[in-house]
Amino acid sequence: MTIQWFPGHMAKATREVQELIKRVDVVVELADARIPQASRNPVLDDILSDRPRVLALVKTDMADETVTKAWQHYFEQNDEPVVLMNAKHNQGTGKLVQEVKRLAQPKMESLQKKGIQNRSIRAMIVGVPNVGKSTVINRLVGKNQAKTGNKPAVTQGNHWLKVSNQMDVLDTPGILWPKFEDPEVGYKLAITGAIKDERLVFEDVVLYLIQQLHKWYPEALKERYNLSELPSEGVELFEAIGRKRGCLIAGGDVDFDQAAEVILRDFRSQKLGPISLEKPKD
Ligand code: G4P
Repeated sequence: MTIQWFPGHMAKATREVQELIKRVDVVVELADARIPQASRNPVLDDILSDRPRVLALVKTDMADETVTKAWQHYFEQNDEPVVLMNAKHNQGTGKLVQEVKRLAQPKMESLQKKGIQNRSIRAMIVGVPNVGKSTVINRLVGKNQAKTGNKPAVTQGNHWLKVSNQMDVLDTPGILWPKFEDPEVGYKLAITGAIKDERLVFEDVVLYLIQQLHKWYPEALKERYNLSELPSEGVELFEAIGRKRGCLIAGGDVDFDQAAEVILRDFRSQKLGPISLEKPKD
């Protein structure tokens, strides 16, 4: 897959997250519930030092509920604190706050022993672009106070936003640039919107999506595209969907570019239903 990377940007974003982590008690790492592995960046393990971390699986409304539960179990088995969230509809925020408080408790007790009373817990949100960082900050804060967008963090001057009397969150989320060598991970990040569309070869990405849907969610494909049988080959299926949706060029051949856009849009707007692209045993 051809995706253009900017190592300079990646290094800068990592340095910024590294700087921000020094100021916080707890890190909230967001991952996309549809791709809980691909949307995590292992660089966080290297720069966390001893900061406690909670993993928030967001966009659970877009993922397959059974698979998400299996992921929750998987992370719990690995002793990773995990919270399921649907930030768009404000589900899981209370649980996240509870978990941050629990993880910060040892630090708060140690501060109290040193005579520092009433210091708020400081948390920060990190994650890959578009995973839902600003949305989660807005949910935590309760009003639209958070700055949105993937802007450089440290250079803007950071502020603390009040979550409650006992907890603050950093106003600018930490951006973790997606990192992968495995092309499948790249495809998953592209499909879910963590990599900007202009950096993608649409047909490659959508062919991968079609193959995954064919394997795991054939009924969703049949229903959405009104297909009684699914061709076994990905390319033929791609073509059949293009034809059904009227994505044709002069002469009657399928316009794969247009068909790819249609399918990706359907996936992202949940026209295919809740779908997970990774399972714990993968
Ligand atoms: P970022 O700061 O990490 O870059 O992400 P941001 O919060 O801007 O969220 C990116 C997109 O994901 C937004 O959609 C947001 O609404 C959506 N989103 C965040 N959390 C959830 C969730 O739990 N469920 C669902 N379904 N969507 C979520 P958008 O299309 O860019 O904007 P809009 O739809 O809010 O207008």
